[in-house]
Amino acid sequence: MRIIKGRAWYRGRLDALSLGIDDDGTIASIRKTLRGDEEIDHGDALILPGAVDMHVHMREPGLTHKDDFASGTRSAAIGGVTTIAEMPNTLPPVTTAMALDEKAATLKHRGVVDYALYAAPRSGDAVGPLRNAAAFKVYMAPSTGDLQIGPGELEGVLREATAHRKLVVVHAEDPSKFRAGKVLSLVDHAAARPKDAETSALAILDRIRANAKVHVAHVTSREGLDAVPRGATCEASPLHLFLDMTRPLGAQGKVFPPLRSREDREALWDAFRSGRIDAIASDHAPHTLDEKSVPFDQAPGGAPGVATSFPLLLRRSRAGDLELSRVVAATALRPAEILGVPKGAIEVGRDADLIVVDPRRIETIRAKRLRYKCGWTPFEGMEGCFPTDVYLRGEAIVEDGEPAAEGRGRLLRPSA
Ligand code: DOR
Ligand code: ZN
Repeated sequence: MRIIKGRAWYRGRLDALSLGIDDDGTIASIRKTLRGDEEIDHGDALILPGAVDMHVHMREPGLTHKDDFASGTRSAAIGGVTTIAEMPNTLPPVTTAMALDEKAATLKHRGVVDYALYAAPRSGDAVGPLRNAAAFKVYMAPSTGDLQIGPGELEGVLREATAHRKLVVVHAEDPSKFRAGKVLSLVDHAAARPKDAETSALAILDRIRANAKVHVAHVTSREGLDAVPRGATCEASPLHLFLDMTRPLGAQGKVFPPLRSREDREALWDAFRSGRIDAIASDHAPHTLDEKSVPFDQAPGGAPGVATSFPLLLRRSRAGDLELSRVVAATALRPAEILGVPKGAIEVGRDADLIVVDPRRIETIRAKRLRYKCGWTPFEGMEGCFPTDVYLRGEAIVEDGEPAAEGRGRLLRPSA
C-alpha cells in the first residue's frame, strides 16, 4: 500500500497523519502512523482535499483555439483542482444526447483531472434524453453560445429535472432589466447588466422552481445572495471576489455577469466568510487576447481562472483573512456534495484526490506559470499559494509544481 504523510485536513482540523491509499485509488486507512511498501513524506506541508471546480468552460469540442481539454485540465491540476464540471456551451452545444455522447468520446483519455459533463436542455422534453449528463445548465440571459431560454421553457426543465432527480445550475440574469447605451468600460458594462437583473431573475426562479434541486451560478452581490431561493445552493467566482470594475482590465475584465463595485465585492467577502456561499467556482471561460482586443462592446465575456481559485483563497487564509475550514468547504466539500461525486474530503472510502501545499511559499501570479492556452490571466501580479504536489486517485499529477501525468482523468457518471 502507498502511504502519503503530512499535516492533513481530517474531520475539520489539521493533524499529522498517514493516509493509506488502496490500489483502486481510494483512501483505505487514516492513522497517526502507517507502514507501506511506498512512503511519501510531505513533512509539515498541508494535505487538503483536491478542489472540485463545478463551473468551467474548457472549450472542447469546437472552440479549441481558446482552450482545449488537455490544456485546460492541466491548468486545473496546477491550481489544485482534481475534479471539474464542464459547461455545455461548446460547439456543437450539448443540447442533445448525441452531442453529449460525442463530447464524452472526444474528451476520453485526454483529461488530466476527473470530470463531469453538463448538458443544456432547451425545454422540458429535452431533459429525459439528456439524463446521462451529470447535471444541467440553463441560461436566463444571453452569453457565449446563445443558449438562453425563457421562463416558460425553464419551468419545463425544472419540472422534468425534478422527476429525474437532477441538479439544475442557473445563470441568473433577467435580460428585461438590461439597459441600453454605450458600453465602453467595465463601469458601463456593470450598469448595462445591473444588479437588479440578477435579483429579478432570482425572483422569477423562486416563483417557478417548485421542488427542483437548484444551484445559482456566480452570484455577484449581497442583494443577489438575499434573493437566492430558499433551499437552493449558490456559488461565487474569484472574479467577483478578487476583482471589481475599478480595475484597469478593460475587456479582459468583461465577464457575464459583470464585475461590480468595490463595495459589492466587500459585501460578497463578508457573506463568504460567514458561510452564506456554498461553493467557489472559477467560471474559467477563456477567450484569446485577439478576441479581447476589439472595442469593448464587441469583446466576448469571460476570463480564465481554473488555476488561480485555490491559490488566491489559500493566500487570503494564510494572511489570516479567511478560515481554512471555509476554503476547504467551498473549494472541495460542498461542490462535491452538490454535484453528488465521491470527492471533496479526506475520508476512508473516498478517492485520494489531494493537494499538498506549503502556505509559506507565496508566489506572484504570472500567466506563464498557469499554462493557459489563451496565455493571460486577469489575476496577473496578485499573490497565490500554489500546490507543490497534487494527487488524483493516489497518483501524482503535479510534482514540484509542474505537471507530472496526463490523460488519467475519468468521466464521472451520474449516480441517480
Ligand atoms: O463570462 C462568461 N463567459 N459568462 C458566461 O456565462 C459564459 C462564459 C463563456 O463561456 O465565455
Ligand atoms: Zn460560465
